[in-house]
Amino acid sequence: MIELEIFQTASDAAHRVAELALEQVAARPASVLGLATGSTPIAIYQDIVRQVRAGRVVWDQVTTFNLDEYVGLCASDPHSFTYYMQQHLFGPLGMRKQKWFMPPHCGPDLAQIAPRYDQTIADHGGIDWQLLGIGRNGHIGFNEPGTPFDSLTHVATLSESTRQANAAWFDGHLDDVPQQAVTMGLATIMAAGTIVLAAFGESKAWALEKLLKEPPTPAVPASVLTQHPHVLVIADQAAASRI
Ligand code: GLP
Repeated sequence: MIELEIFQTASDAAHRVAELALEQVAARPASVLGLATGSTPIAIYQDIVRQVRAGRVVWDQVTTFNLDEYVGLCASDPHSFTYYMQQHLFGPLGMRKQKWFMPPHCGPDLAQIAPRYDQTIADHGGIDWQLLGIGRNGHIGFNEPGTPFDSLTHVATLSESTRQANAAWFDGHLDDVPQQAVTMGLATIMAAGTIVLAAFGESKAWALEKLLKEPPTPAVPASVLTQHPHVLVIADQAAASRI
């Protein structure tokens, strides 16, 4: 079931998502969180860091699993999601390396190795609380349109529109945006206990309309979420403008 909360500004919406994450950790200090990257979570992570530093919750026992990572970008590459996470969350919270996980994304045989990420998640008891952003074309993680609903962690080829949307992170150089990423699959995401999807800005209005108003279809990967029992969509007014 999908619940929807709409806030006037992206900043108010981000604050609400941070509150939900903190409530989760307060209720279960050893929570396993699924985390996202992109522009949407930045204000959410800033809020979480501020409140953890202020003593609101103890974060030491939290374990995190990120949704996706570009194939071939090392942790030290400023364009990698690993670098982003270290900059915005892991570093500021002083998280130890054994408490955070990124999908396997370097080295040979990635297609064979990728599903082991699902096993690692299961070995940690599964994801309690999953944060998602949403792509303009309705992708979640890097599950592009057409991805089967029963997919596990896998190597995904990025669509042209997704690479264009993410080129801003590569100084606008589309050629520098990797063609592939390793992403949790849709079934991996659906196994989480609670899912919170954050959608901020007018560019997300089409995807949110499809997700909330039309029947589920692999053409809009996020629509798989309509089949999950606990999904909360936190949107600002711009993203909710077509609902
Ligand atoms: C990328 C990520 C997604 C993210 C999406 C939206 O493609 N793989 O996990 O949700 O972009 O990003 P943004 O928040 O920057 O709009």
